[in-house]
Amino acid sequence: MTKTLDLMDIQGNITRAYGRFGLGFARYLFLRIHDGIKGMSFVGAVTEKVTTAARWIGVEDGPNAIEKPKVATNIAFTYQGMKALQVPRASLIGFPMEFVMGMKNRQDILGDEGASAPEHWDPLWQDVPVHILITIDGVAPDFIEERYEWLLGLIRQSEGGIELLTGHRGANGADDLPYQDAHILFDENGNPTPKEHFGYTDGISDPVFEGVPDVPGRVLGRGKPTREGGWAPLATGEFILGHVDEAMEYPPAPNPVLFSRNGSFMIYRKLHENVGTFNAYLDEQSEHFPGSKELLAAKFVGRWRDNGAPLIHAPDEESKKAWDARYATASPEEKDKMLSDFDYTNDPNGSRCPFSSHLRRINPRSALEFTKGAFETPGALSDRRRILRRGLPYGQTSNPARDDGEHGIIIMMVNADIGRQFEFVQQQWINYGNDFKAGSDKEILLGNHDKENPGKAVIQVDPDSDRAPFFLKNLPRFVETRGGDYFFIPSLTALRMIAKGIVDPT
Ligand code: HEM
Repeated sequence: MTKTLDLMDIQGNITRAYGRFGLGFARYLFLRIHDGIKGMSFVGAVTEKVTTAARWIGVEDGPNAIEKPKVATNIAFTYQGMKALQVPRASLIGFPMEFVMGMKNRQDILGDEGASAPEHWDPLWQDVPVHILITIDGVAPDFIEERYEWLLGLIRQSEGGIELLTGHRGANGADDLPYQDAHILFDENGNPTPKEHFGYTDGISDPVFEGVPDVPGRVLGRGKPTREGGWAPLATGEFILGHVDEAMEYPPAPNPVLFSRNGSFMIYRKLHENVGTFNAYLDEQSEHFPGSKELLAAKFVGRWRDNGAPLIHAPDEESKKAWDARYATASPEEKDKMLSDFDYTNDPNGSRCPFSSHLRRINPRSALEFTKGAFETPGALSDRRRILRRGLPYGQTSNPARDDGEHGIIIMMVNADIGRQFEFVQQQWINYGNDFKAGSDKEILLGNHDKENPGKAVIQVDPDSDRAPFFLKNLPRFVETRGGDYFFIPSLTALRMIAKGIVDPT
Protein backbone atom coordinates (compact mmCIF):
# COMPACT_ATOMS: atom_id res chain seq x y z
CA MET A 1 0.00 0.00 0.00
CA THR A 2 1.31 3.46 -0.83
CA LYS A 3 2.24 5.44 2.24
CA THR A 4 0.38 8.71 2.80
CA LEU A 5 2.11 11.52 4.67
CA ASP A 6 0.49 14.55 6.25
CA LEU A 7 2.35 16.91 3.91
CA MET A 8 0.82 19.98 5.52
CA ASP A 9 2.44 19.05 8.83
CA ILE A 10 5.96 18.64 7.37
CA GLN A 11 8.27 21.58 6.58
CA GLY A 12 8.81 21.95 2.84
CA ASN A 13 12.61 22.01 2.94
CA ILE A 14 12.60 18.37 4.09
CA THR A 15 10.89 17.20 0.93
CA ARG A 16 12.16 19.73 -1.62
CA ALA A 17 15.47 21.18 -2.75
CA TYR A 18 13.89 24.56 -3.55
CA GLY A 19 16.57 25.45 -6.11
CA ARG A 20 15.37 22.62 -8.35
CA PHE A 21 11.90 24.18 -8.39
CA GLY A 22 12.96 27.65 -9.55
CA LEU A 23 13.54 29.19 -6.10
CA GLY A 24 17.17 29.89 -6.91
CA PHE A 25 17.95 32.64 -4.35
CA ALA A 26 18.21 32.24 -0.59
CA ARG A 27 19.03 34.09 2.63
CA TYR A 28 19.92 32.26 5.83
CA LEU A 29 19.44 34.04 9.19
CA PHE A 30 20.66 32.95 12.61
CA LEU A 31 19.05 34.19 15.79
CA ARG A 32 19.48 34.11 19.51
CA ILE A 33 16.69 34.03 22.08
CA HIS A 34 17.15 36.31 25.09
CA ASP A 35 13.67 35.86 26.52
CA GLY A 36 11.92 32.49 26.31
CA ILE A 37 8.37 33.86 26.40
CA LYS A 38 9.07 36.44 23.69
CA GLY A 39 10.88 33.70 21.79
CA MET A 40 7.72 31.57 21.87
CA SER A 41 5.56 34.31 20.45
CA PHE A 42 8.19 34.96 17.73
CA VAL A 43 8.05 31.26 16.80
CA GLY A 44 4.24 31.47 16.71
CA ALA A 45 4.35 34.44 14.32
CA VAL A 46 6.93 32.82 12.01
CA THR A 47 4.93 29.57 11.97
CA GLU A 48 2.13 31.43 10.16
CA LYS A 49 4.43 31.85 7.16
CA VAL A 50 6.24 28.49 7.26
CA THR A 51 6.22 26.70 3.92
CA THR A 52 4.95 23.14 4.19
CA ALA A 53 5.52 20.09 1.99
CA ALA A 54 2.03 20.53 0.44
CA ARG A 55 1.77 19.62 -3.25
CA TRP A 56 2.21 22.46 -5.77
CA ILE A 57 -0.23 22.91 -8.64
CA GLY A 58 1.45 22.02 -11.93
CA VAL A 59 4.31 20.25 -10.14
CA GLU A 60 2.66 17.37 -8.32
CA ASP A 61 -1.07 17.98 -8.68
CA GLY A 62 -3.22 16.04 -6.26
CA PRO A 63 -5.24 16.52 -3.10
CA ASN A 64 -4.82 19.91 -1.40
CA ALA A 65 -2.37 21.20 -4.02
CA ILE A 66 -1.59 24.91 -3.57
CA GLU A 67 -0.13 27.60 -5.85
CA LYS A 68 3.63 27.32 -6.08
CA PRO A 69 4.96 30.02 -3.71
CA LYS A 70 7.37 32.74 -4.88
CA VAL A 71 9.07 32.71 -1.52
CA ALA A 72 9.48 29.92 1.05
CA THR A 73 10.25 30.29 4.75
CA ASN A 74 11.45 27.54 7.09
CA ILE A 75 12.63 27.44 10.67
CA ALA A 76 14.84 25.10 12.71
CA PHE A 77 16.45 25.09 16.18
CA THR A 78 19.67 24.00 17.82
CA TYR A 79 19.53 22.06 21.09
CA GLN A 80 20.42 25.28 22.93
CA GLY A 81 17.56 26.95 21.09
CA MET A 82 15.09 24.29 22.27
CA LYS A 83 16.33 24.89 25.81
CA ALA A 84 15.96 28.66 25.51
CA LEU A 85 12.38 28.10 24.34
CA GLN A 86 11.69 26.24 27.57
CA VAL A 87 11.02 22.87 26.01
CA PRO A 88 10.71 20.61 29.09
CA ARG A 89 13.75 18.71 30.29
CA ALA A 90 11.95 15.38 29.94
CA SER A 91 11.67 16.07 26.20
CA LEU A 92 15.18 17.50 25.83
CA ILE A 93 16.78 14.31 27.19
CA GLY A 94 15.31 12.40 24.26
CA PHE A 95 17.42 14.28 21.70
CA PRO A 96 20.36 12.28 20.29
CA MET A 97 23.81 13.01 21.69
CA GLU A 98 25.30 14.44 18.45
CA PHE A 99 22.52 17.01 18.26
CA VAL A 100 22.93 17.94 21.93
CA MET A 101 26.70 18.41 21.46
CA GLY A 102 26.41 20.49 18.30
CA MET A 103 28.71 20.57 15.28
CA LYS A 104 31.71 22.36 16.83
CA ASN A 105 31.99 19.73 19.54
CA ARG A 106 31.92 16.97 16.93
CA GLN A 107 35.05 18.40 15.30
CA ASP A 108 37.09 15.20 15.76
CA ILE A 109 34.41 12.97 14.26
CA LEU A 110 33.91 15.32 11.32
CA GLY A 111 37.60 15.89 10.62
CA ASP A 112 37.20 19.66 10.92
CA GLU A 113 40.87 20.33 11.55
CA GLY A 114 43.59 22.61 10.16
CA ALA A 115 41.99 25.21 7.90
CA SER A 116 38.55 23.70 8.68
CA ALA A 117 38.92 24.00 12.47
CA PRO A 118 36.18 25.99 14.25
CA GLU A 119 38.60 28.82 15.20
CA HIS A 120 38.72 29.71 11.48
CA TRP A 121 34.95 29.68 11.00
CA ASP A 122 32.99 32.89 10.36
CA PRO A 123 32.80 35.16 13.46
CA LEU A 124 29.10 34.20 13.81
CA TRP A 125 30.15 30.81 15.19
CA GLN A 126 32.80 32.06 17.61
CA ASP A 127 31.09 33.41 20.70
CA VAL A 128 27.44 33.03 21.62
CA PRO A 129 25.57 29.88 20.64
CA VAL A 130 23.13 30.10 17.77
CA HIS A 131 19.52 29.19 18.67
CA ILE A 132 17.40 29.53 15.53
CA LEU A 133 17.97 29.18 11.79
CA ILE A 134 15.48 30.78 9.42
CA THR A 135 15.84 30.10 5.70
CA ILE A 136 14.19 32.25 3.06
CA ASP A 137 14.20 30.90 -0.51
CA GLY A 138 12.75 32.86 -3.41
CA VAL A 139 12.33 33.02 -7.16
CA ALA A 140 14.00 36.46 -7.15
CA PRO A 141 15.92 38.63 -4.64
CA ASP A 142 12.97 41.07 -4.25
CA PHE A 143 10.79 38.38 -2.70
CA ILE A 144 13.54 37.51 -0.26
CA GLU A 145 14.05 41.14 0.68
CA GLU A 146 10.35 41.55 1.41
CA ARG A 147 10.21 38.47 3.65
CA TYR A 148 13.43 39.57 5.36
CA GLU A 149 11.92 42.99 6.16
CA TRP A 150 8.88 41.26 7.61
CA LEU A 151 11.14 39.17 9.87
CA LEU A 152 13.08 42.26 10.95
CA GLY A 153 9.72 43.74 11.98
CA LEU A 154 8.98 40.70 14.15
CA ILE A 155 12.43 40.93 15.71
CA ARG A 156 11.87 44.62 16.54
CA GLN A 157 8.48 43.78 18.05
CA SER A 158 10.17 41.29 20.37
CA GLU A 159 11.87 44.29 22.07
CA GLY A 160 15.14 42.52 22.69
CA GLY A 161 13.64 39.06 23.17
CA ILE A 162 15.16 37.90 19.88
CA GLU A 163 18.46 39.03 18.40
CA LEU A 164 19.50 38.65 14.77
CA LEU A 165 23.11 37.48 14.97
CA THR A 166 25.73 39.11 12.78
CA GLY A 167 29.17 37.76 11.86
CA HIS A 168 28.87 36.21 8.41
CA ARG A 169 31.81 36.81 6.12
CA GLY A 170 31.02 38.18 2.67
CA ALA A 171 32.45 39.91 -0.39
CA ASN A 172 35.16 42.62 -0.09
CA GLY A 173 36.39 41.49 3.30
CA ALA A 174 33.08 41.97 5.14
CA ASP A 175 32.94 39.87 8.29
CA ASP A 176 29.94 41.17 10.17
CA LEU A 177 27.02 40.63 7.82
CA PRO A 178 23.61 39.90 9.39
CA TYR A 179 22.81 37.05 7.00
CA GLN A 180 24.28 34.53 4.57
CA ASP A 181 23.09 34.96 1.01
CA ALA A 182 23.24 32.08 -1.49
CA HIS A 183 22.08 31.65 -5.07
CA ILE A 184 22.36 29.49 -8.15
CA LEU A 185 25.28 30.38 -10.42
CA PHE A 186 24.78 32.16 -13.76
CA ASP A 187 26.80 31.80 -16.98
CA GLU A 188 28.51 34.71 -18.74
CA ASN A 189 25.24 35.51 -20.57
CA GLY A 190 23.32 35.69 -17.32
CA ASN A 191 21.54 32.37 -17.81
CA PRO A 192 20.91 30.19 -14.72
CA THR A 193 23.06 27.07 -14.46
CA PRO A 194 23.07 23.95 -12.25
CA LYS A 195 26.83 24.46 -11.57
CA GLU A 196 28.93 24.89 -8.46
CA HIS A 197 32.24 26.81 -8.30
CA PHE A 198 34.56 23.96 -9.46
CA GLY A 199 32.46 23.77 -12.62
CA TYR A 200 30.58 20.53 -11.95
CA THR A 201 26.89 20.06 -12.70
CA ASP A 202 25.23 19.52 -9.32
CA GLY A 203 21.83 18.70 -7.86
CA ILE A 204 21.09 15.56 -9.86
CA SER A 205 20.85 12.80 -7.26
CA ASP A 206 18.56 13.17 -4.24
CA PRO A 207 17.00 10.25 -2.38
CA VAL A 208 13.37 9.43 -3.16
CA PHE A 209 11.38 8.14 -0.20
CA GLU A 210 7.93 6.78 0.56
CA GLY A 211 5.03 9.18 0.94
CA VAL A 212 6.48 12.17 -0.93
CA PRO A 213 4.65 12.94 -4.17
CA ASP A 214 7.12 12.73 -7.01
CA VAL A 215 7.32 12.38 -10.75
CA PRO A 216 7.21 8.71 -11.86
CA GLY A 217 10.65 7.54 -12.92
CA ARG A 218 12.58 9.75 -10.47
CA VAL A 219 13.03 6.74 -8.21
CA LEU A 220 15.44 5.18 -10.77
CA GLY A 221 18.90 5.48 -9.25
CA ARG A 222 17.59 7.68 -6.43
CA GLY A 223 15.64 5.17 -4.38
CA LYS A 224 17.12 1.94 -3.04
CA PRO A 225 18.23 -0.94 -5.26
CA THR A 226 15.91 -3.98 -5.08
CA ARG A 227 16.74 -7.71 -5.32
CA GLU A 228 14.88 -7.79 -8.64
CA GLY A 229 17.31 -5.31 -10.15
CA GLY A 230 14.99 -2.28 -9.95
CA TRP A 231 14.57 0.68 -7.60
CA ALA A 232 12.07 1.37 -4.79
CA PRO A 233 11.55 4.45 -2.61
CA LEU A 234 13.49 4.42 0.68
CA ALA A 235 11.59 4.07 3.95
CA THR A 236 10.21 7.40 5.22
CA GLY A 237 11.91 6.95 8.61
CA GLU A 238 15.33 7.46 7.04
CA PHE A 239 14.40 11.14 6.68
CA ILE A 240 11.36 11.91 8.81
CA LEU A 241 10.94 11.14 12.52
CA GLY A 242 7.99 9.11 13.75
CA HIS A 243 7.99 6.78 10.73
CA VAL A 244 9.70 3.41 10.34
CA ASP A 245 13.12 3.36 8.71
CA GLU A 246 14.93 0.75 6.60
CA ALA A 247 15.42 -1.43 9.70
CA MET A 248 11.65 -1.27 10.37
CA GLU A 249 12.39 0.76 13.50
CA TYR A 250 11.50 4.27 14.59
CA PRO A 251 14.54 6.58 14.56
CA PRO A 252 15.53 7.88 18.03
CA ALA A 253 13.46 10.99 18.82
CA PRO A 254 12.29 12.96 21.86
CA ASN A 255 8.91 12.56 23.56
CA PRO A 256 6.07 13.16 23.21
CA VAL A 257 5.55 11.57 19.80
CA LEU A 258 3.40 14.53 18.77
CA PHE A 259 6.42 16.80 19.28
CA SER A 260 8.94 14.83 17.20
CA ARG A 261 6.77 13.10 14.56
CA ASN A 262 7.07 14.66 11.09
CA GLY A 263 10.20 16.54 12.13
CA SER A 264 13.79 15.89 11.07
CA PHE A 265 17.39 16.99 11.60
CA MET A 266 19.36 19.37 9.43
CA ILE A 267 23.14 19.72 9.16
CA TYR A 268 24.07 23.25 8.04
CA ARG A 269 27.63 23.59 6.70
CA LYS A 270 29.28 26.55 4.98
CA LEU A 271 31.93 24.99 2.72
CA HIS A 272 34.52 27.24 1.08
CA GLU A 273 35.83 26.01 -2.28
CA ASN A 274 39.54 26.55 -2.98
CA VAL A 275 38.99 27.19 -6.67
CA GLY A 276 42.58 28.28 -7.39
CA THR A 277 44.06 25.17 -5.76
CA PHE A 278 41.55 22.96 -7.56
CA ASN A 279 42.32 24.43 -11.00
CA ALA A 280 46.10 24.36 -10.46
CA TYR A 281 46.03 20.74 -9.24
CA LEU A 282 43.83 19.60 -12.11
CA ASP A 283 46.13 21.33 -14.65
CA GLU A 284 49.26 19.87 -13.07
CA GLN A 285 47.96 16.28 -12.80
CA SER A 286 46.39 16.25 -16.26
CA GLU A 287 49.86 16.76 -17.76
CA HIS A 288 50.69 13.19 -16.69
CA PHE A 289 47.23 11.61 -16.76
CA PRO A 290 46.65 9.31 -19.74
CA GLY A 291 43.42 11.00 -20.84
CA SER A 292 41.93 14.48 -21.16
CA LYS A 293 41.78 17.04 -18.36
CA GLU A 294 37.98 16.75 -18.41
CA LEU A 295 38.18 12.97 -17.96
CA LEU A 296 40.43 13.49 -14.94
CA ALA A 297 37.99 16.07 -13.51
CA ALA A 298 35.21 13.51 -13.99
CA LYS A 299 37.30 10.91 -12.13
CA PHE A 300 37.39 13.21 -9.06
CA VAL A 301 33.59 13.26 -8.80
CA GLY A 302 32.16 10.37 -10.83
CA ARG A 303 30.35 12.66 -13.29
CA TRP A 304 31.56 14.80 -16.20
CA ARG A 305 31.58 18.49 -15.45
CA ASP A 306 29.73 19.78 -18.53
CA ASN A 307 26.45 17.88 -18.29
CA GLY A 308 26.77 15.47 -15.33
CA ALA A 309 27.11 12.32 -17.48
CA PRO A 310 27.93 9.48 -15.05
CA LEU A 311 31.31 7.80 -15.56
CA ILE A 312 29.56 4.45 -15.16
CA HIS A 313 27.80 5.06 -18.51
CA ALA A 314 30.52 7.21 -20.11
CA PRO A 315 33.89 6.02 -18.76
CA ASP A 316 36.13 7.59 -21.45
CA GLU A 317 36.10 10.29 -24.16
CA GLU A 318 34.72 7.96 -26.85
CA SER A 319 31.79 6.65 -24.80
CA LYS A 320 31.14 10.20 -23.62
CA LYS A 321 30.70 11.36 -27.24
CA ALA A 322 28.17 8.55 -27.84
CA TRP A 323 26.41 9.38 -24.55
CA ASP A 324 26.22 13.08 -25.49
CA ALA A 325 24.73 12.23 -28.90
CA ARG A 326 22.00 10.10 -27.30
CA TYR A 327 21.39 12.72 -24.61
CA ALA A 328 20.93 15.51 -27.16
CA THR A 329 17.82 13.91 -28.66
CA ALA A 330 16.43 12.21 -25.54
CA SER A 331 13.09 13.18 -23.95
CA PRO A 332 13.24 14.83 -20.50
CA GLU A 333 12.31 11.47 -18.86
CA GLU A 334 15.02 9.63 -20.82
CA LYS A 335 17.55 12.34 -19.95
CA ASP A 336 16.78 11.95 -16.27
CA LYS A 337 17.15 8.18 -16.54
CA MET A 338 20.49 8.53 -18.35
CA LEU A 339 21.76 10.78 -15.57
CA SER A 340 20.57 8.85 -12.55
CA ASP A 341 19.77 5.19 -13.29
CA PHE A 342 23.02 3.34 -12.53
CA ASP A 343 24.88 1.43 -9.88
CA TYR A 344 28.45 0.10 -9.70
CA THR A 345 27.72 -3.58 -10.47
CA ASN A 346 29.56 -3.42 -13.81
CA ASP A 347 32.55 -1.71 -12.19
CA PRO A 348 33.80 -3.94 -9.35
CA ASN A 349 37.40 -2.73 -9.84
CA GLY A 350 36.69 1.00 -9.96
CA SER A 351 38.11 1.30 -13.46
CA ARG A 352 35.12 3.37 -14.61
CA CYS A 353 34.32 5.30 -11.44
CA PRO A 354 37.21 5.38 -8.92
CA PHE A 355 36.67 4.15 -5.36
CA SER A 356 37.72 7.55 -3.98
CA SER A 357 35.52 9.69 -6.24
CA HIS A 358 32.93 11.91 -4.54
CA LEU A 359 29.91 10.04 -5.88
CA ARG A 360 31.06 6.53 -5.11
CA ARG A 361 32.16 7.38 -1.56
CA ILE A 362 29.06 9.41 -0.72
CA ASN A 363 26.49 6.93 -2.01
CA PRO A 364 28.10 3.59 -2.97
CA ARG A 365 24.68 2.30 -4.06
CA SER A 366 25.08 -1.53 -4.13
CA ALA A 367 28.88 -1.39 -4.51
CA LEU A 368 29.69 -2.57 -0.98
CA GLU A 369 28.00 -5.95 -1.36
CA PHE A 370 29.99 -7.39 -4.24
CA THR A 371 30.99 -10.50 -2.30
CA LYS A 372 27.32 -11.03 -1.32
CA GLY A 373 27.22 -13.74 1.37
CA ALA A 374 25.95 -12.02 4.49
CA PHE A 375 24.52 -9.11 2.50
CA GLU A 376 22.29 -10.62 -0.18
CA THR A 377 20.20 -7.46 -0.34
CA PRO A 378 21.73 -4.88 -2.70
CA GLY A 379 22.15 -1.57 -0.88
CA ALA A 380 22.03 -3.23 2.58
CA LEU A 381 25.17 -1.31 3.57
CA SER A 382 24.29 2.03 2.02
CA ASP A 383 20.50 2.40 2.34
CA ARG A 384 20.92 3.52 5.95
CA ARG A 385 23.53 6.19 5.09
CA ARG A 386 21.50 8.24 2.64
CA ILE A 387 21.30 12.03 2.92
CA LEU A 388 18.95 14.62 1.41
CA ARG A 389 20.85 17.65 0.10
CA ARG A 390 19.46 21.17 0.31
CA GLY A 391 21.15 24.56 0.03
CA LEU A 392 22.82 26.52 -2.77
CA PRO A 393 26.21 27.89 -3.83
CA TYR A 394 27.26 31.23 -2.31
CA GLY A 395 29.48 34.05 -3.56
CA GLN A 396 31.25 34.59 -6.87
CA THR A 397 34.57 33.27 -8.09
CA SER A 398 36.20 36.46 -9.34
CA ASN A 399 39.61 34.96 -10.13
CA PRO A 400 39.80 31.24 -11.07
CA ALA A 401 43.49 31.20 -10.09
CA ARG A 402 42.87 32.24 -6.47
CA ASP A 403 41.42 30.59 -3.37
CA ASP A 404 40.62 33.72 -1.39
CA GLY A 405 37.32 35.53 -1.56
CA GLU A 406 33.97 34.24 -0.47
CA HIS A 407 32.63 31.38 -2.56
CA GLY A 408 31.51 27.84 -1.94
CA ILE A 409 28.43 25.86 -1.09
CA ILE A 410 25.98 26.23 1.75
CA ILE A 411 25.04 22.62 2.12
CA MET A 412 22.07 21.70 4.28
CA MET A 413 21.73 17.98 4.71
CA VAL A 414 18.57 16.42 6.08
CA ASN A 415 18.40 13.00 7.73
CA ALA A 416 16.62 11.30 10.62
CA ASP A 417 19.78 10.22 12.44
CA ILE A 418 22.79 12.57 12.29
CA GLY A 419 25.17 9.99 13.79
CA ARG A 420 24.19 7.05 11.60
CA GLN A 421 23.80 9.00 8.36
CA PHE A 422 25.75 12.27 7.95
CA GLU A 423 28.48 11.72 10.56
CA PHE A 424 29.12 8.14 9.46
CA VAL A 425 29.53 9.22 5.83
CA GLN A 426 31.76 12.15 6.79
CA GLN A 427 34.00 10.08 9.09
CA GLN A 428 34.12 6.64 7.50
CA TRP A 429 33.59 7.27 3.82
CA ILE A 430 34.98 10.77 3.22
CA ASN A 431 37.96 10.87 5.57
CA TYR A 432 38.75 7.15 5.63
CA GLY A 433 38.72 4.58 2.82
CA ASN A 434 38.68 1.11 4.30
CA ASP A 435 35.13 0.22 3.20
CA PHE A 436 36.28 0.92 -0.35
CA LYS A 437 39.46 -1.16 -0.19
CA ALA A 438 41.29 2.19 -0.26
CA GLY A 439 43.01 2.00 3.14
CA SER A 440 43.28 5.44 4.67
CA ASP A 441 42.90 7.27 1.33
CA LYS A 442 40.35 10.06 1.70
CA GLU A 443 37.66 11.07 -0.75
CA ILE A 444 39.37 13.21 -3.42
CA LEU A 445 37.16 16.32 -3.36
CA LEU A 446 36.11 16.64 0.29
CA GLY A 447 38.86 14.75 2.18
CA ASN A 448 40.61 16.83 4.82
CA HIS A 449 44.01 16.39 3.11
CA ASP A 450 46.70 18.53 4.67
CA LYS A 451 50.13 19.93 3.85
CA GLU A 452 52.09 18.02 6.49
CA ASN A 453 50.49 14.72 5.57
CA PRO A 454 49.48 15.10 1.91
CA GLY A 455 46.75 12.87 0.54
CA LYS A 456 46.87 10.37 -2.28
CA ALA A 457 44.24 8.52 -4.26
CA VAL A 458 44.25 5.86 -6.93
CA ILE A 459 42.50 6.19 -10.28
CA GLN A 460 41.94 2.49 -10.95
CA VAL A 461 42.21 0.82 -14.36
CA ASP A 462 40.88 -2.48 -15.68
CA PRO A 463 43.23 -5.08 -14.11
CA ASP A 464 43.09 -7.12 -17.35
CA SER A 465 44.41 -4.20 -19.39
CA ASP A 466 48.11 -3.45 -19.76
CA ARG A 467 47.66 0.04 -18.30
CA ALA A 468 48.93 1.09 -14.87
CA PRO A 469 46.72 2.77 -12.27
CA PHE A 470 47.20 6.55 -12.01
CA PHE A 471 48.25 7.89 -8.62
CA LEU A 472 47.07 11.30 -7.49
CA LYS A 473 49.88 12.52 -5.24
CA ASN A 474 50.08 15.45 -2.81
CA LEU A 475 46.34 15.99 -2.81
CA PRO A 476 45.67 19.44 -1.34
CA ARG A 477 42.58 20.56 0.61
CA PHE A 478 39.98 21.61 -1.96
CA VAL A 479 37.11 22.29 0.46
CA GLU A 480 37.22 23.97 3.90
CA THR A 481 34.52 24.22 6.54
CA ARG A 482 33.65 27.81 7.47
CA GLY A 483 30.82 27.25 9.94
CA GLY A 484 27.76 25.25 10.78
CA ASP A 485 25.65 23.48 13.34
CA TYR A 486 22.99 20.81 13.84
CA PHE A 487 19.31 21.84 13.79
CA PHE A 488 15.96 20.23 14.59
CA ILE A 489 13.27 20.94 11.97
CA PRO A 490 9.98 20.57 13.87
CA SER A 491 6.67 19.69 12.26
CA LEU A 492 3.99 22.37 12.07
CA THR A 493 2.25 20.70 15.04
CA ALA A 494 5.46 20.88 17.07
CA LEU A 495 6.04 24.53 16.12
CA ARG A 496 2.59 25.37 17.48
CA MET A 497 3.31 23.37 20.65
CA ILE A 498 6.60 25.24 21.15
CA ALA A 499 4.92 28.60 20.51
CA LYS A 500 2.22 27.89 23.07
CA GLY A 501 4.57 26.29 25.60
CA ILE A 502 2.55 23.08 25.64
CA VAL A 503 5.18 20.44 24.88
CA ASP A 504 4.11 17.87 27.50
CA PRO A 505 6.21 14.73 27.67
CA THR A 506 4.25 13.18 30.55
C1 HEM B 1 32.00 21.99 -1.82
C2 HEM B 1 31.55 20.80 -1.53
C3 HEM B 1 30.84 19.89 -2.47
C4 HEM B 1 30.82 19.86 -3.85
C5 HEM B 1 31.55 20.78 -4.81
C6 HEM B 1 29.95 18.78 -4.24
C7 HEM B 1 29.66 18.45 -5.55
C8 HEM B 1 28.83 17.41 -5.93
C9 HEM B 1 28.53 17.05 -7.30
C10 HEM B 1 29.07 17.77 -8.52
C11 HEM B 1 27.70 16.00 -7.27
C12 HEM B 1 27.11 15.28 -8.50
C13 HEM B 1 25.73 15.75 -8.83
C14 HEM B 1 24.64 14.90 -8.24
O1 HEM B 1 24.73 13.67 -8.33
O2 HEM B 1 23.67 15.48 -7.71
C15 HEM B 1 27.45 15.66 -5.89
C16 HEM B 1 26.64 14.63 -5.44
C17 HEM B 1 26.43 14.34 -4.12
N1 HEM B 1 27.00 14.97 -3.03
FE1 HEM B 1 28.30 16.51 -3.08
N2 HEM B 1 29.47 18.16 -3.12
C18 HEM B 1 29.99 18.81 -2.02
C19 HEM B 1 29.78 18.50 -0.70
C20 HEM B 1 29.05 17.43 -0.26
C21 HEM B 1 28.93 17.03 1.13
C22 HEM B 1 29.60 17.72 2.32
C23 HEM B 1 28.11 15.94 1.15
C24 HEM B 1 27.68 15.10 2.32
C25 HEM B 1 28.46 14.80 3.35
C26 HEM B 1 27.71 15.68 -0.21
C27 HEM B 1 26.83 14.70 -0.59
C28 HEM B 1 26.51 14.39 -1.89
C29 HEM B 1 25.56 13.34 -2.25
C30 HEM B 1 24.76 12.46 -1.26
C31 HEM B 1 25.53 13.30 -3.64
C32 HEM B 1 24.70 12.34 -4.49
C33 HEM B 1 25.45 11.04 -4.67
C34 HEM B 1 24.59 9.96 -5.33
O3 HEM B 1 23.47 9.74 -4.88
O4 HEM B 1 25.07 9.34 -6.28
N3 HEM B 1 28.32 16.59 -1.04
N4 HEM B 1 28.15 16.54 -5.10
